Amino acid sequence: MNKYRKDFPFFKAIDEKSSVENKDLIYFDTAATAQRPFIVLNAMTHFYATENANPLRGLYSLSERATMAYENARDTVAKFINAKEAAEIVFTRNASESLNLVAYSWGLNRLHEGDEICVSIMEHHSNIVPWQMVCQKTGAKLVFMECDKETGIISDEEIAAKINSNTKIVSVVHVSNVLGVTNPVKKIGEAAHAVGAIFIVDGAQSAPHMKVDVQDFNADFFAMSGHKLCGPMGIGALYGKRALLEEMDPFLRGGEMIEYVTREKATWAEVPHKFEAGTVSAGDAVGMAAAIRYIQSIGLENIEAHDRELAERMMAGITQIPHINIIGPKDASKRCGIITFTLDGVHPHDIASLLSEEHIAIRAGHHCAQPLGQYLNQTATARASLYFYNTEEEVDCFLEKVAKLREWSGFKD
Ligand SMILES: Cc1ncc(COP(=O)(O)O)c(C=O)c1O
Repeated sequence: MNKYRKDFPFFKAIDEKSSVENKDLIYFDTAATAQRPFIVLNAMTHFYATENANPLRGLYSLSERATMAYENARDTVAKFINAKEAAEIVFTRNASESLNLVAYSWGLNRLHEGDEICVSIMEHHSNIVPWQMVCQKTGAKLVFMECDKETGIISDEEIAAKINSNTKIVSVVHVSNVLGVTNPVKKIGEAAHAVGAIFIVDGAQSAPHMKVDVQDFNADFFAMSGHKLCGPMGIGALYGKRALLEEMDPFLRGGEMIEYVTREKATWAEVPHKFEAGTVSAGDAVGMAAAIRYIQSIGLENIEAHDRELAERMMAGITQIPHINIIGPKDASKRCGIITFTLDGVHPHDIASLLSEEHIAIRAGHHCAQPLGQYLNQTATARASLYFYNTEEEVDCFLEKVAKLREWSGFKD
C-alpha cells in the first residue's frame, strides 16, 4: 500500500524530504482527520476554477454545471453506502451535524415523557449530547447499553435489557473511536425495529475503513464525515430513508429549502433539498465525492486488510512493552486500526508530547467520549490511529519510541 503515499502532497513531501514543516512526521491521527490526496484538492480547484456558480439557483449553463457537479457528488455518496437513491443523502457539515439534524427534526417533535433513547456507553459526544438535549426538552430518558470492559462487546443480554417498548430511538456508533471495535449493528437494528424504534448509526469511523451497506443493516439514518475519508473538512452526509425524511420538519430554514413563501408561511422543497438551507458547500461536496472515488479505487477491502495488518503488528509489539495497558480488546483481530493505551506513570498528554518531539503525531485526551472514560475509570488515554497510507516502518519506529517513554520520564524499569 506504500505506493499510495505519493498521491498525497503531505506524505510525498515527507518521503522526498522536501517538507520543512513536517520533516519525518509519522501521522497516526487519522481517526481525528485523514490527510487529503492531490486528486481531492484538484477536484475542488477544478470546481472553483471552471464550474463556480451558485448551484441550484441560476438558469444559465454555468450554474447548471455547478448543480450537476453537486448532485453527482450526492449520487457518489449514495452509491458508496448503498442508499436506494441519491435523494436519501443530505449534505451536512459533518457527522455531528448529521446527528443533530435527526435529533432536532425527528427527536424533538416526536418524543415525550416515558419514551427512551438508547445509545451505547462508547458513543462519541456527537451521539450523546444532541440526545441529552432532546431528553431535557421532551422529558424522555437517555439509556446506555454498556459493553464488556475488556472486550468492548455489547452482549445480546444488554441489547435485550436496554431496548424495550419505551424505546423510540436507538443510536449507536458503528466503529468506536476509542475501543476500535465494530458493533453488531445488524443485530442492534433488528432489536430497535422489533420495538418500533428508529435506528441510527454513527458511521464517522466506519465509512472510511470498511464497506458500508446501509440497507444490509437496515439503518434508518447513517451519519458520516468527509474529512475522515480523505475529503475536505466542513462536509459530511446524513443518509435517511426517504419516507422518514419526508415526514420530518426542516432543520435549518431559509433560501433554497422552500417550495413557496408568503408573508405568513412557507412550504418546503422536496427531500433532500428541504434540509439544505442556503448556499450549499458544493466545492466540498465535489471534494468528498473525489475522496470516495479515490478510496474505492484502492478498494475498501484492501484498506480494511491493511489497517488490520498494521494494527496486528502494533498490538504484537506494544503488548510486549512493560507497563502498557491496552484500552479495548487485546485481541488485535477484534479491532480496527485504532490502538488506545495508557502507560503506568506517564500521563497520556506527556506520551503525546514526548512522541511529538520524536515527530510522531498521536492523540491524547478523552477523545470526545467522556462517559466511556468514566465507565472505564480513565480520564485520559493515548490513541494511535492508522490508515492505508501508514507503513510497517512507521509502526516499528513508533514501537521503538514508546518503549523508551518511561525511561525518558525518569523511570528505571
Ligand atoms: C465515532 C465518531 N462519531 C462522530 C464524530 C464526529 O465527527 P465530526 O467531528 O466530523 O462531526 C467522530 C469524530 O471523531 C467520531 O469519531
